[in-house]
Order: sequence, then structure tokens, then C-alpha cells
Amino acid sequence: MEYPVEHIRGQFPALVSGAVFLDGPGGTQVPQAVIDAVVGYYRQANANEHGLFPTSQLSDGIIAQARQAMADFINARSAAEIVFGANMTTLTLHLARSLGRILRPGDEIVVTRLDHDANIAPWLFLQENGAVIRWLEIDPENCTLKLERLEEIINEKTRIVAVGHASNAFGTINDVGRVVAAAKKVGALTFVDAVHYAPHRAIDVQLLDCDFLACSPYKFYGPHSGVLYGKQETMARLQPYKVRPANDHAPDCFETGTKNHEGIAGVGAAIEFLAALGRDFGAEHAPGLEAYASGRRRWLKQALALVMAHETRLFSRLLAGLLTIPGLRVYGITDANHFSERTPTVCFTLPGLTPAAVAKKLGEKGLYVWDGNYYAWEPMKFLGLEEKGGAVRAGLCLYNTNDEVDRFIKTLREIAAGN
Ligand SMILES: Cc1ncc(COP(=O)(O)O)c(C=O)c1O
Repeated sequence: MEYPVEHIRGQFPALVSGAVFLDGPGGTQVPQAVIDAVVGYYRQANANEHGLFPTSQLSDGIIAQARQAMADFINARSAAEIVFGANMTTLTLHLARSLGRILRPGDEIVVTRLDHDANIAPWLFLQENGAVIRWLEIDPENCTLKLERLEEIINEKTRIVAVGHASNAFGTINDVGRVVAAAKKVGALTFVDAVHYAPHRAIDVQLLDCDFLACSPYKFYGPHSGVLYGKQETMARLQPYKVRPANDHAPDCFETGTKNHEGIAGVGAAIEFLAALGRDFGAEHAPGLEAYASGRRRWLKQALALVMAHETRLFSRLLAGLLTIPGLRVYGITDANHFSERTPTVCFTLPGLTPAAVAKKLGEKGLYVWDGNYYAWEPMKFLGLEEKGGAVRAGLCLYNTNDEVDRFIKTLREIAAGN
């Protein structure tokens, strides 16, 4: 069966504008079902939590459903392992501060040079508690993590390992399984930033066996919000900072103050949108799944397999086009044999033009891309790009098409030629 791109696009009202949205790694558009869920929440269920009256009870039900949907999305054992928050950065800063309470001076924390700063800065603050930071470095050739020294950097002093699942700048997918295994060997806790990974591949926290994982629904067709997964046993060991009357048990004790209820309603709808895609179109892309998974989880895996196949095809076309533009330099994996180790997000520079100038010209022609560092500040500095305005970033997602890619390449070629 052909990939149902027109069926998908028909569900995204923003696409009617005719703009080409290649800004997905910064945030995707949302389907009508998500808009309806947010509006519906306000119309029918708008109330604070745990009241003894119908709107509050309806609101509680909507949040509980979204929590279960989110648990299915990452294959958590229980909905109680899902923490909702403002965004990944806020959740990570809060978690890191809580983890600081169980650290002793000299304890080591491993971070990577490849990550978004939301998975670096929160851990650097723990130096105030006497923690020592160790870095996993990058190979500048293809913007992958240098894992040769992993077993040396992770040692018996390591207490926390924070690693990104995929780079929001270069698309590199890291071998997180290997990093988690090395951390577990020495009894360290593991935190995975799956913000850039989540729209492109199915996440399985049970398989990864990490302690924590964070993602942001606004990157996978939902509202602006963040989600933190915490393994039940690990969360039970922590005392997060919270106000005194708030519930002492996870996930509530990690959810400071009133949540973004309408946004959470939209998160549930975004996951249902993906599940419906897998249910209706995905079976042949992930054959055999029926044997070990059922219902929404199976459909989500099917959806992500379907999306991955589409995005990889489109990405091959995009990269092939980019590489024909004189002087254009791509940062990241370009070898087609390794496309399974990258997302369809590409980062590049053009000679003689700042990334901002390129993004502005593209924007004027209806093609939306990011320029700058996208908070992947460490790798941009490391590659010497930060002082030059970073790089241009174009990211594909489930609603992009061949025609959009062709239009992008044609326009970029004109810009590169000075037109
Ligand atoms: C890889 C990665 N990590 C973390 C973040 C921060 O997420 P949030 O905006 O939800 O705080 C982003 C946002 O762009 C990201 O791409």
C-alpha cells in the first residue's frame, strides 16, 4: 500500500496555507483532532483536579486517559510512571535538582558533547553539590558520539549518565542501549533525552531499561508540553522538591502545581492520531507485531514503522538534492548504509551566506527552516559553527512530500547561486 500522505495532510489544517514546514525538529503542526481535544476540554471539562463535581471528574478522566496513552507511546509498565510538565527543559531541571539530593561530593555525572543544552545544563548545575562532570565527545567527521572510551568514562564513581537518544541538530541516533548497559554495570542512574527521537522511531523504555526518559509532545503533533518517564522503583527513591500539601507519591509529587490540562487533553489526542495511522495503514510495515503486542501499543509501533519508511525515502531524496548544490556542507551522517542511525533532520551551511540569511530567504519563499544553534550549543561550539551563526536545519516528518523536498532543493539552489 502507498504511504497515505494525502490522507495525513488532510488532517492538518495548517498545511492548507501551502507553506513547506521543514521546522518539525523545532515543533510540528497539529492535526484537527488535537485542536478539537484542546477546545473540547475548555468547552466540557475545564476544572482543577480531584473535585467532587462533574467537570473536575471529567477533567481527571481526560488526564488519566492521556497518561495511559503516553505510557503506551513509550511502553511504560504503568501510567504512574508518566509525569506531565511544562516542557522537557523544566522537567529536567526539576529532576536534576531532586537527584542532587542523593549525590555526594566527588560523585560523577556523564553528559555528552552532542546534546541539546536541556540535557547538559541541568546536570552541570549539580557541580554546586560537588558532582564532577565527565564528557562523552563527538567525532566531528559525522557528528556521532565517540563511544570507544565509554567504559573508561563510566566508572565506579559514576552516579548519573545523561544521554540524548537523537541529536536535534544533526539527526544522529545514539546507541543508547549500549550507554545504559554500561551505566547499569556500575549502578549509575540513566536519563535519556528522547525529544528529537520520539517523532521518528518507537520508544520502548522497558527494552532500554533506562531510569528516566523525557520527550516533548509538541514535537510529535501535540501541544506545547513535556513528559518525563521515571521507572517506578527509581522515582520512589527520590524526594522531589514540592509544596507540602501535594501528594507524596509519583507521578503527582513530580508534577509541581496545576498542570496544563487542555494541553494534556491534546497530548492524548496526538497519540490517538498516531495510533489510528498505525491501525489503518501500518500493518504491512511492521509485520509480526501482532504476535507480541496488542491494541494501541501495537498500532503505535506500526505507525512509527510506517513513518520511518516514509521519512527515510524522503530523506534520501533530500540529501541527494543537497549534495548537488555547489559548496554546500552537510554536518552529520551522509552514508546511506547508516541511515538507520539518523533521523531525517539535516544540518548544513552554504558558502558566502550566513545561516540566518539562508533561512530568511527560504522563509520569504514559503519554506520554513531553522538557523542558529537550536540550543545544541555544545556541538555547535565544538564544530566551530557557533561564532558563524550556527547552521541551517531542515527536518522532515510524517506530513512532508516529495514535491516539498523538490521545491526546497530548487529554491535553495537558486539562493546558493545568488538569486
Ligand atoms: C533534543 C532536544 N532536547 C530537549 C529539547 C528541549 O525541549 P523543550 O522545548 O520541551 O524544553 C529540545 C527542543 O528543541 C530538543 O530538540
